[in-house]
Amino acid sequence: MRSTECFCTDRLIAERITDAHSDELLRMHRDEKVMATLGGVRTEQAWTREFLNKSIAHWNQRGFGLWVFRDITNGEFVGRGGLRHILVAGSDEIELAYALMSEYWGQGFATEIAKHSLQIGFEMLHLTNIVCFTMTTNYASQRVMQKAGFTYERNIIHAHLPHVFYRMTALDWKKQQKS
Ligand SMILES: CC(C)(COP(=O)(O)OP(=O)(O)OC[C@H]1O[C@@H](n2cnc3c(N)ncnc32)[C@H](O)[C@@H]1OP(=O)(O)O)[C@@H](O)C(=O)NCCC(=O)NCCS
Repeated sequence: MRSTECFCTDRLIAERITDAHSDELLRMHRDEKVMATLGGVRTEQAWTREFLNKSIAHWNQRGFGLWVFRDITNGEFVGRGGLRHILVAGSDEIELAYALMSEYWGQGFATEIAKHSLQIGFEMLHLTNIVCFTMTTNYASQRVMQKAGFTYERNIIHAHLPHVFYRMTALDWKKQQKS
């Protein structure tokens, strides 16, 4: 049986996020291309430290969270993604998140991460709902949501910016697996 902490997809290795990933995450948080749609670059080490502390605490409290993804062929850092609790537009939700280093964009990696995260969320963690949201201008991310099978629900304001908000229920997931 696959573990929720460490697993492989066709092209990626997923590792539960830990302190060991701090240098790679700092590199990502300092990358202008990646961070353009995530609130801008975060050059300070303290910001990545805080991000890691929160991500590690999330795993400890809830038994799931974000993974770091590596290229299965050479171990290179590809990005981060996974499932996390969030208060969004006034509701408690479980969010699917993903962010990749730009050299890996456009090859279906985010969709691969999304599908495996959803499978773990619904089939191993027995979540009833998973949401995903992004800025109205982030078309690549919206396309990932659509390819992963999410349904558009509404527009929201998040972090003072307009976002599109998508949802998948456990029933949607089951139907999608049968079709
Ligand atoms: C958004 C992001 C995760 C997408 O990752 P990715 O691995 O390139 O995604 P995929 O290859 O699985 O799918 C991307 C899809 O978007 C499409 N796309 C890319 N740019 C697009 C654009 N400007 N307009 C419309 N579609 C676009 C691609 O063609 C592809 O669709 P297709 O397979 O039908 O051709 C990646 O660009 C990223 O990490 N961005 C920075 C962080 C971020 O924005 N994270 C999401 C926050 S909600």
